[in-house]
Amino acid sequence: MSERAVRTPLVEAAREHFIKFFREGSLIYPYLLKHIEEVEKWTLIILEDHPEADKETVLLSVWLHDIGHTFGDKQIDHAEKSAYETLEFLDQMGASREKIINVTHCVRSHRCKDVIPNSLEAKILATADSASHLTDVNYIIHAQEGDLEYAKGKIRRDLRDIEQFQLLNPKLLEQLQNIGRGWETILANWPFVDTQPFTN
Ligand SMILES: [Fe+2]
Ligand SMILES: [Fe+2]
Repeated sequence: MSERAVRTPLVEAAREHFIKFFREGSLIYPYLLKHIEEVEKWTLIILEDHPEADKETVLLSVWLHDIGHTFGDKQIDHAEKSAYETLEFLDQMGASREKIINVTHCVRSHRCKDVIPNSLEAKILATADSASHLTDVNYIIHAQEGDLEYAKGKIRRDLRDIEQFQLLNPKLLEQLQNIGRGWETILANWPFVDTQPFTN
């Protein structure tokens, strides 16, 4: 089944909305679009084992959960900005009140930080988001930018999240745990720790 086939018109509109913000936004992470595509891939894998979830709610949250990275004050948590934009966008699109509330919760809680996922759909997004970091360049980017301790902590948080919601089948969970250990080995040996500019 093609990716397009699993996207409803509303999900396709959310995808176009994200890409517009990604292309025109002020705070561009060059790999952000690739990240969202990786999250969508993991979401579809998890949904195969959980057909009881509302697929459209999860896919809308995939395309909107990191839109807050593309605009506004960098000091404000991107999950807050993304939730605000999700509410505005879905309201303008005429989505039902229930859909708006459910998608906004997925988006707001995806970091499993100050707001914790409390629906199946939100747990799927959080799991897919964390799984995607393990199969992408996320930790390398942080290490290259000199944020090694943040990258190490992020591996631990991602492993915690894919374990705590118990949505991955045992084989996938084991594969990702092995990948996580691989990343920990890579970062434990990362040679470029001091990236401060040379001064004399
Ligand atoms: Fe995020
Ligand atoms: Fe994300």
